[in-house]
Amino acid sequence: MSSTPSSLPPRGSQANDDERLPVAFTLNGETVDTQVHPLDTLLEVLRDKLRLTGTKGACHEGECGSCTVLVNGIPMNSCLILAPQVQGSDLVTVEGLADGETLSNVQQAFLDLGAVQCGYCTPGLLIAAKAFLETCPDPTPEQIRKGMEGNICRCTGYVKVIDAVIEAAKTMPSLKGARHEQA
Ligand code: FES
Ligand code: FES
Repeated sequence: MSSTPSSLPPRGSQANDDERLPVAFTLNGETVDTQVHPLDTLLEVLRDKLRLTGTKGACHEGECGSCTVLVNGIPMNSCLILAPQVQGSDLVTVEGLADGETLSNVQQAFLDLGAVQCGYCTPGLLIAAKAFLETCPDPTPEQIRKGMEGNICRCTGYVKVIDAVIEAAKTMPSLKGARHEQA
C-alpha cells in the first residue's frame, strides 16, 4: 500500500456529473466501499457522503489545515485530495481519535488546558498534533510551532495549543514503552 495517495488526474480533466468511480479504503478502522464522482474531494466525501462532519473545511485551498486527516499516518489536507486517490489507504479523522467515550490523550490535553475557543480549527489541530508527536515525542515550543505551522487558528494565539501539545507528549500511548526502555 502506498503511503501517499496516487497522483492527481491531469489538470483540466473533465468528468460527467453522473460519472462515478468505486473507491474503497479504511476509515477509522472500518472498511468503506463506496462510489464517488471523480472530482469529489476527500473532504466532500467525508462530510457530505459519509457524514463525518468533524473534519472542517475553511479555505479549501490547502492553506489553513482545518481539513487535516491522516492518510496512511501522514497528515494531509483533505480539501486537496480527490477521493479516488485514497483507494486502498488507511484514513483517520478526528472521529477516530477517541476510544468510545474515552478521549485520546491529545484530545484530553486540549480539553484540560482550554486549548479550544470556537473549535473550528480544533479537529485539524488534533490530527496534526497526533501525527507531530509520533515524529517528535519530546518537543520544544519552537518545534511545535514549526511542526504544526500548516494549521491556522483564527481565534487568538497558540499559547494554549502549544501547552496542550507539550502536555499530550507526556502521555503518548505509543511512546511510553520506548521512553521506558530508554530510561
Ligand atoms: S480547508 Fe483544507 S487547508 Fe483549508
Ligand atoms: S479555536 Fe477558533 S479558529 Fe481556532
